[in-house]
Amino acid sequence: MIVEKPYGHDLESCRKLNRLIHAIFSEEDVYRIDHYLGKETVQNILVFRFANGIFEPVWNRRYVDHVQITVAETIGVEGRGGYYEEAGALRDMVQNHMLQLVSLVAMEAPIFFDGRWVRDEKVKVLEAIRPFTLDDVLDSTVRGQYGRGRCGTQEAPGYREEEGVSPDSKTETYVALKMFVDSWRWADVPFYLRTGKRMKRRSTEIAVEFKRPPTLLFRDSVDAKSLGPNLLTMRIQPDEGISLRFHTKVPGSPLRIRPMNMDFTYVPTDLAAAPTAYETLLLDALQGDNTLFARNDEVEAAWDVMGGILAGWAELPPPDFPNDAACSAGPEAANDLIQADRRRWRDL
Ligand code: BG6
Repeated sequence: MIVEKPYGHDLESCRKLNRLIHAIFSEEDVYRIDHYLGKETVQNILVFRFANGIFEPVWNRRYVDHVQITVAETIGVEGRGGYYEEAGALRDMVQNHMLQLVSLVAMEAPIFFDGRWVRDEKVKVLEAIRPFTLDDVLDSTVRGQYGRGRCGTQEAPGYREEEGVSPDSKTETYVALKMFVDSWRWADVPFYLRTGKRMKRRSTEIAVEFKRPPTLLFRDSVDAKSLGPNLLTMRIQPDEGISLRFHTKVPGSPLRIRPMNMDFTYVPTDLAAAPTAYETLLLDALQGDNTLFARNDEVEAAWDVMGGILAGWAELPPPDFPNDAACSAGPEAANDLIQADRRRWRDL
């Protein structure tokens, strides 16, 4: 059985759905599609991590300062106002696609590359995410909704003016949050997530920012603050590729240092010739390979994490929507969230 989202609206409805499905099918025969898992660049996260030996030793709390995951879309709700009103950005993007990205970045190496072992490791990550208390929701989550804005030379309508959307909608079209994976590898490393519709630029990427060197040998010749940290960026889409930023000496004297990128970009024709995410997943399902599908415990664990946020949002007064403009980089409160930790979002 192949199932597309939504797999429920919250933990309770997801469990109910899973019970119904299991009344007829065994879990082995259920293929829950999360199309992000079918993307070449998402599959490449595991290859990058586990087909190379040199990244594993630094892929942990000793060396990583924080992880930033962005899924910024320029499109609006594209005629799906009715669905989106019920879902909002948290259910539409964070519960599924973004938590899948978190689990691939944070998981331990599986014993085998197959449906059982890969998914076992992903579930452990989801179950290790620190539950959101009301205080966490207040301090570590931001909801936004875009109003009218200028996109290039065009005036764009606000979310409340989209077809099928209530004129006083309280649905979020943007979410930013900070979460922690309380595992041996990741304890106290913040994972910052943000996603939104009608944003300034389309960009889905994972940025792993490393800690700075313990002492700055070159402090006499450079302003220490101007030397950014080492950064590994996985660009899921567009401009698909991976970059590693490090510092190099500018030839000549006096001594000057500048950041450079070691860059891998896909050959565009290779990517264009590859099957689309859905083609990949449908073929895998027909061949009985469930590695790239969400298992019941995975979706339930993801809903469990979302439960704390949804409960907090239900309890707290809603923000004064719209609190963001179409084609911006997100609401100001999202900057406050990350700046409170003396960090900043990557430019959009
Ligand atoms: C879908 C969401 O799951 O993913 C849409 O329902 C969103 O709202 C889409 O636009 C994004 O997918 P992609 O592949 O364009 O990043």
